[in-house]
Amino acid sequence: MSDTAVIIGLGYVGLPLAREATLSGLRVVGLDVNDELIAGLEAGRSHIDDLTDDDIMAMKRGGFRATTDSRVIAQARAVVICVPTPLSESGSPDLRAVIAAVESVAAHLQPGTLVALESTTYPGTTDEVVRPILEASGLIAGIDFNLAFSPERIDPGNRDFGPRNTPKVIGGHTENCTQAAADFYGRFVDTVVKTKGTREAEMAKLLENTYRHINIALVNEMARFCHDLNIDLWDVIDAASTKPFGFQSFRHGPGVGGHCIPIDPNYLSHNVRAKLGYPFRFVELAQEINNSMPTYVARRVQDLLNSDSKAVRGASVLLLGVTYKPNIADVRESPATPLAKCLIAMGASVSFHDPHVKNWTVAGRDLTSESDLYGSVADADACVLLQNHRDYDVDALAMSSRRFLDTRGVARRSDTVERL
Ligand SMILES: NC(=O)c1ccc[n+]([C@@H]2O[C@H](COP(=O)([O-])OP(=O)(O)OC[C@H]3O[C@@H](n4cnc5c(N)ncnc54)[C@H](O)[C@@H]3O)[C@@H](O)[C@H]2O)c1
Repeated sequence: MSDTAVIIGLGYVGLPLAREATLSGLRVVGLDVNDELIAGLEAGRSHIDDLTDDDIMAMKRGGFRATTDSRVIAQARAVVICVPTPLSESGSPDLRAVIAAVESVAAHLQPGTLVALESTTYPGTTDEVVRPILEASGLIAGIDFNLAFSPERIDPGNRDFGPRNTPKVIGGHTENCTQAAADFYGRFVDTVVKTKGTREAEMAKLLENTYRHINIALVNEMARFCHDLNIDLWDVIDAASTKPFGFQSFRHGPGVGGHCIPIDPNYLSHNVRAKLGYPFRFVELAQEINNSMPTYVARRVQDLLNSDSKAVRGASVLLLGVTYKPNIADVRESPATPLAKCLIAMGASVSFHDPHVKNWTVAGRDLTSESDLYGSVADADACVLLQNHRDYDVDALAMSSRRFLDTRGVARRSDTVERL
């Protein structure tokens, strides 16, 4: 068997991983079901923020190729699955992409292959969902092939930590599976961390994301009563952050977004309810608080307009930065969407500017990013800073505006600036 690694799912997670593995000298084949994406990669075009077209060309020079043909799996020494794990309409885990990807692996699985799942999921998925599909091939996990779970920890837009220097958690079906996965990842990741088994590795990822989710909810709830008590919570957090031990700061904001924080903890709470029959109360409460933030921000916009004797109905409100985090183009689950829907429902005329997003659809309306940033800021009755993108000179924007609601706590305080 050749030294080939097949990476299934070439999105925000799979593509940077494919790059790191290629740079380490592995022969990497990327497999995806999206023809357009594969054609783009084969033409040297990147579709994600963290990699440039030059990066893709360098990968190609290193032997990387992308395909939709799952027969490449038969050539692989290692297969890594990085497909999406969204929520279904009813809010339950939607494992359809994982199951489809694992079925394609099972169809071509060869003895001796390592199969590693990276998609975030509830504990038990690798053992209860992935393993039976693979074993239907007639090969047995831990005997004929190696099976492991290794959660992806990528943080898109993070310039300090990437796939190489972020420690990689690995849990195998057996000790030998863990070692096989550690040997594979150890070729292109500085530090590997072994867990007892697959469930512990699955749970570690959910603990990390649930921890963030809950702590963000904590400050989001505090933001409301601090505002009512006339306490500046940004100042409070800055002060508390000076404690050198026992405190990690989280900042409030317009809500949580992205592929992880609003979704992953639900995998866990749904699993706890389904398997054990009782709720994971922290997660459910955090969800409720974080989900209420866009409506709360809309109310704060209403208050601002009120101080100018203006109704929301008919007012022009400009949203600045509609992605779920700064300096990337990803709008998945962005709280900007429920905020815009709420403002539209209240009768506001909503527009937006985002240096990373050209077109944005909200409540069935196709909006185009304002081309004249300062002109549209000056024209709007109120501006809401939702993402502190690197390209924004927030103080200059705030000074050009009539009313400026800063949900990120970065604008200098003034008569026209209000912080969340
Ligand atoms: N984006 C993040 O910041 C991040 C961070 C950590 C973990 N994760 C987790 O990693 C997983 C992947 O997330 P992502 O952001 O890379 O998703 P993504 O949507 O950016 O990419 C997933 C890719 O998988 C492809 N795909 C879907 N079904 C397939 C199949 N059956 N066979 C082959 N390819 C298939 C899609 O076409 C897409 O290109 C998810 O479980 C997510 O929760 C994401």
